[in-house]
Amino acid sequence: MDSEKSMFGGAIRPTWPSLLLLLTTMLVLSYQISTMTGLPSWAGSVWGASETAPADPTRSRSCSGFFFGGVGAAPPRRKTVMSIRDFGGVADGTTSNTEAFRKAMRYMQTKQESGGAQLNVPEGRWLTGSFNLTSNFTLFLEEGAVILGSQDPKEWPIIEPLPSYGRGRERLGGRHISLIHGDGLTDVVITGHNGTIDGQGKMWWELWWNRTLEYTRVHPVYCSNVVIKDMTILAPLNAPNTDGIDADSCTNVCIEDCYIESGDDLIAVKSGWDHYGIKMARPSSNIIVRRVSGTTPTCSGVGIGSEMSGGISNVTIEDLHVWNSAAGVRLKSDKGRGGYIENVTISNIKMERVKTPIKFSRGSNDHPDKGWDPKAVPKVKGIFISNIVSLNSTKAPVLQGVEGASYEGICLRNVTILGLAASAAWQCEFVAGFANDVFPTPCPQMQDMGSFNWCQQH
Ligand SMILES: *[C@@H]1O[C@H](CO)[C@@H](O)[C@H](O)[C@H]1NC(C)=O
Ligand SMILES: *[C@@H]1O[C@H](CO)[C@@H](O)[C@H](O)[C@H]1NC(C)=O
Ligand SMILES: *[C@@H]1O[C@H](CO)[C@@H](O)[C@H](O)[C@H]1NC(C)=O
Ligand SMILES: *[C@@H]1O[C@H](CO)[C@@H](O)[C@H](O)[C@H]1NC(C)=O
Ligand SMILES: *[C@@H]1O[C@H](CO)[C@@H](O)[C@H](O)[C@H]1NC(C)=O
Ligand SMILES: *[C@@H]1O[C@H](CO)[C@@H](O)[C@H](O)[C@H]1NC(C)=O
Ligand SMILES: *[C@@H]1O[C@H](CO)[C@@H](O)[C@H](O)[C@H]1NC(C)=O
Ligand SMILES: *[C@@H]1O[C@H](CO)[C@@H](O)[C@H](O)[C@H]1NC(C)=O
Repeated sequence: MDSEKSMFGGAIRPTWPSLLLLLTTMLVLSYQISTMTGLPSWAGSVWGASETAPADPTRSRSCSGFFFGGVGAAPPRRKTVMSIRDFGGVADGTTSNTEAFRKAMRYMQTKQESGGAQLNVPEGRWLTGSFNLTSNFTLFLEEGAVILGSQDPKEWPIIEPLPSYGRGRERLGGRHISLIHGDGLTDVVITGHNGTIDGQGKMWWELWWNRTLEYTRVHPVYCSNVVIKDMTILAPLNAPNTDGIDADSCTNVCIEDCYIESGDDLIAVKSGWDHYGIKMARPSSNIIVRRVSGTTPTCSGVGIGSEMSGGISNVTIEDLHVWNSAAGVRLKSDKGRGGYIENVTISNIKMERVKTPIKFSRGSNDHPDKGWDPKAVPKVKGIFISNIVSLNSTKAPVLQGVEGASYEGICLRNVTILGLAASAAWQCEFVAGFANDVFPTPCPQMQDMGSFNWCQQH
């Protein structure tokens, strides 16, 4: 995997609550400035034109340029550029820089309407508690720069739960703020020359095991126009609830060229939980995930749901490489969720030693509180899965829909799952779809002629 790794830029190491961005428009994470020239391609909408009519096929498969006015455009230049040292920062790995970062951000906020600002973090180990970003702002980690998350919980204040979840996902009440946090911002870039954000998550994982902690992750919520590119995200493989990247109630999101090792899903797409998510009604839509590789022993390469009550649509996932993982592609919903999952295209996935390559499942009575509505069933239709090869798998696909809300238009084409025992059988329930060129032979629910046309059109 060396050749793949060498192209990744920033690294997020054992993170716990590392990065959370709320209500943010135009966000670029770990954008490698050095690769800008030549790469930009997407002028205009994240969804559409360049996908179907590529002028240059090598360019068409990157959405990295789509914020900056199209081909050849540069990322925003900020009028004010300063270093964390200018704010009294000390890079010895033990001195707290929380005040330095907060002071820097207060100053940079005054520049947001006059050309914006960039904060450079030079080489060295910068210990800090949580700080908030601002608009028209670039956080730039120079080569050898490491931002270290403070081990003092007092430096991670508790904030309100997300309204689309109503409560903490794992526990009641609020959540610790993220190490790098932003709320209601526009035009934020976090980038650099292969810098590292190390949340030093061990303390948080212990707190979680000790059942005293809520979780958070690299987590854009209620955001639009998000690019997450060239990142390496490493969490111990046994660390709880450490999804690599969660796109949560976000629109126009491009995640590409990332390497992720995680104790939870590598990439997850969500949109709120039961009645809280239905009420908030913030869907996740127009999401592209491509060229992501990694491993997660207990979870899946890509997970859609289980919280999807605000709706999820127009998701394209392609060119993934997943190994030594519990599942490859997972879709999860249940009664009470409401919402929908529609127009999901998953193709070109290579899996090795993935236990269950394709898994649609229900939760296990997993609701925020007693206020959930058993009549709120999810609507799932138009899931296209093609060009999948899975080697040394142990379970045939599991396709479990929700009773009273059968999934429709589930299309499988050119799917080869090898390594299964001869007795391994598909498990299908409350689904209808069509499978073409699929091995091993699918369940009868996947020979639904009503779905045939739907699947052929794609
Ligand atoms: C960001 O900068 C643009 C001009 O480039 C300005 O129009 C906008 O108001 C600024 N945003 C904020 C939140 O100050
Ligand atoms: C950061 O923003 C949150 C709201 O999103 C707020 O509760 C917190 O006090 C802010 N922290 C700082 C240091 O300004
Ligand atoms: C980035 O840094 C990591 C170590 O933190 C190193 O393994 C990797 O090769 C570096 N990548 C580049 C492109 O310099
Ligand atoms: C978690 O509990 C273990 C013992 O059960 C203890 O040694 C450890 O210090 C606790 N960790 C935290 C962060 O509270
Ligand atoms: C999804 O894409 C289709 C076109 O392919 C478009 O008609 C629809 O509006 C999109 N949905 C959302 C929520 O953007
Ligand atoms: C799904 O795609 C169809 C056809 O492009 C479009 O009409 C529909 O609006 C899309 N659904 C959603 C929820 O975006
Ligand atoms: C089937 O999928 C494999 C693996 O992605 C790909 O190499 C092959 O070209 C596909 N075949 C067809 C007919 O599309
Ligand atoms: C699959 O398993 C066989 C037999 O154990 C082994 O020889 C082969 O290397 C494995 N392949 C992969 C891709 O794991």
